[in-house]
Amino acid sequence: MKNTFLMMAVLFFSMNSFAGDIAKGKKIFKKVNCALCHNKDAMGKAKNGKVALLKGPQIAGLDEAYIVEQVTAIQGKKRKTKNTSMMYAKIKKLTPAEIKDIAAYVHSLSKTRHVGMLQTK
Ligand code: HEC
Repeated sequence: MKNTFLMMAVLFFSMNSFAGDIAKGKKIFKKVNCALCHNKDAMGKAKNGKVALLKGPQIAGLDEAYIVEQVTAIQGKKRKTKNTSMMYAKIKKLTPAEIKDIAAYVHSLSKTRHVGMLQTK
């Protein structure tokens, strides 16, 4: 009995630490104004794949793990192009938990999976 309880507690906490909170993510998306460059529906402002400083690519429907990875990389300047500096300025203060929440929300915005710029499949 005690063990079952312990198992459930462990499961609960591990689930919490892996999954982002969509509702919280929605608020952060608004606060940071990701829509400025990625559009309100996160479908992107880049026309015909032409990404620019204020014209981000589609991010709706990207894999959650990919979103976390790329936002973290842009924040840590591991991913740096001529177009990442503005996004960097906007997201530099996000915590890892906030990035997870935002990833859950952005992922949920499209029912069809979207393949990221740095993904091959
Ligand atoms: C000032 C404009 C701007 C803002 C604000 C912005 N981004 Fe971006 N974002 C970009 C641009 C431009 C790129 C493409 C960078 C490159 O590769 O050159 C990008 C790339 C990305 C990528 C990687 C896409 C891929 O296919 O690899 C993700 C994920 C992303 N942004 C998420 C977000 C989220 C979430 C927010 C809000 C917290 C946000 N961005 C705010 C401009 C912006």
